Amino acid sequence: MAKDRLSIFSFQHFCYVIIILSFCSVIISLSWSHCCSQCHAAYQVIAQKQNQPINLLSYPFAWNRLMFSSEPPSKLLKIALFVKKWPQKSHAGGLERHALTLHLALAKRGHELHIFTTSTNSSFTNYSTNNVHFHFSKPTPAGYLDQASVWEQFQAQNSSSKPFDIVHTESVGLRYTRSRHVTNLAVTWHGIAYETIHSDIIQELLRSPQEPQTKALNERAMKVVEEVKFFPNYAHHVPTSDHAGDILKRVYMIPEERVHIILNGVDQDVFKPDFPKGKEFKKRHGIPDSKSLLVIGLAGRLVKDKGHPLMFEALKQIIAENSTFQESSMVVVAGDGPWGARYRDLGASVLVLGPLEQAELASFYNAIDIFVNPTLRAQGLDHTLLEAMLTGKPVMATRLASIVGSVIVGNEMGYTFSPTVSALKKAIYELWVGGREVLEKKGQVAMQRGLQLFTATKMVAAYERLFVCISSAKHEDHFCEYQP
Ligand SMILES: *[C@@H]1O[C@H](CO)[C@@H](O)[C@H](O)[C@H]1NC(C)=O
Ligand SMILES: *[C@@H]1O[C@H](CO)[C@@H](O)[C@H](O)[C@H]1NC(C)=O
Ligand SMILES: *[C@@H]1O[C@H](CO)[C@@H](O)[C@H](O)[C@H]1NC(C)=O
Ligand SMILES: *[C@@H]1O[C@H](CO)[C@@H](O)[C@H](O)[C@H]1NC(C)=O
Repeated sequence: MAKDRLSIFSFQHFCYVIIILSFCSVIISLSWSHCCSQCHAAYQVIAQKQNQPINLLSYPFAWNRLMFSSEPPSKLLKIALFVKKWPQKSHAGGLERHALTLHLALAKRGHELHIFTTSTNSSFTNYSTNNVHFHFSKPTPAGYLDQASVWEQFQAQNSSSKPFDIVHTESVGLRYTRSRHVTNLAVTWHGIAYETIHSDIIQELLRSPQEPQTKALNERAMKVVEEVKFFPNYAHHVPTSDHAGDILKRVYMIPEERVHIILNGVDQDVFKPDFPKGKEFKKRHGIPDSKSLLVIGLAGRLVKDKGHPLMFEALKQIIAENSTFQESSMVVVAGDGPWGARYRDLGASVLVLGPLEQAELASFYNAIDIFVNPTLRAQGLDHTLLEAMLTGKPVMATRLASIVGSVIVGNEMGYTFSPTVSALKKAIYELWVGGREVLEKKGQVAMQRGLQLFTATKMVAAYERLFVCISSAKHEDHFCEYQP
């Protein structure tokens, strides 16, 4: 009997392998990663066909791929969040944006949030929900959370009416000296030293002979060793990219059942296709609304480590060597920083708008034909790429592991380039020659991927399930199982 079942099982398996192989060979002309994702989908089909529940804690892929119920869970949680700085609504970098989007959504779903953060002088947003509680403390001179103070506040709250179900720290908000005492804890890493080595290598290669060599590259390896030593003091780890997940398991040697990949998500109600908004944005900013003019968009802080020296040089050379480029395309830059003024000097085909509020940024994405992010920061998962994708725009970015591994996984949704001026120029020429029709097609693929993986809803559902699972006694509850 057992043997019978086994042979049926392997025959089924055999069939699926044949199906997968023939499918892959049909699309062999497409990129390998595309094929891989198809095969992965087929793998999920196999699991589904066999109706095997998945053990979530050791699920090797991003949880964003899974479908969780949109209903809040039967068990509502009391959540402690440690975050160095709680952002003011619109201007917030990656880590703070993540903290804000995720936790306000969790509160909206009925969970009780206690946010341990540093006090700010600026006027504070008073959230209308009564289940978000702030516990402020004075930052250390270096701007970190004062561990003794926050721990005292946390203990007081934990021993009051109801203990915390789950503790979440954004990066080292709660340091390992305290976190090691907490078993129901998850840390989200927005950047680990091992990834940053790539940025250090790029910066060293781009350094001009006049600039002094920095010690960053040499010191980074020791930083990795430090991290490998102290990371195990956190019970559960959430990397924000597939690549960081791999590094945590393989290089940092954290057991796989304690590493759970959840990719960043952005608000799909704000960032979505809206053709009239894009048209109106162009009109307001004097961008000609012509079919023959290609609009290339850049956004974010215009600083060195976001790759703007590289982008500036590439554009300067293209404009100088090809007059047609100037006539048929326009570069629109949203953001400010030292490179803003330099972009302005490039003439009429570059428009620098300064920083935009979120709603205005959403219109900006609708007005462009492609979004380019030349970032040299190898860590974390950049929000701007996800926003552009959800708006239905193709994306172009540096070949960093988190980007090519989780975001632009094939050329059907955009372009990637090595961080050199010549490679970037080549990519810009390629997108320009391809023209609007090609870009629109890629934009559609980008949006499908965005909706599948990068919505705030997906991210929030994944964290909620993780928190419920970790907080359930001995993880034995059905919360840690996923029924396909
Ligand atoms: C906050 O306000 C206090 C007193 O009003 C002042 O001494 C301090 O420098 C301010 N801190 C910041 C970061 O602005
Ligand atoms: C925030 O709003 C609540 C209710 O609307 C009010 O009771 C509370 O005093 C407000 N807090 C601050 C700091 O303004
Ligand atoms: C929080 O309180 C619960 C219940 O008293 C206790 O079991 C737990 O150890 C406390 N957590 C921490 C980190 O002190
Ligand atoms: C500009 O580049 C395009 C595409 O590479 C090329 O066809 C065209 O001849 C170039 N024009 C000039 C003036 O160099």
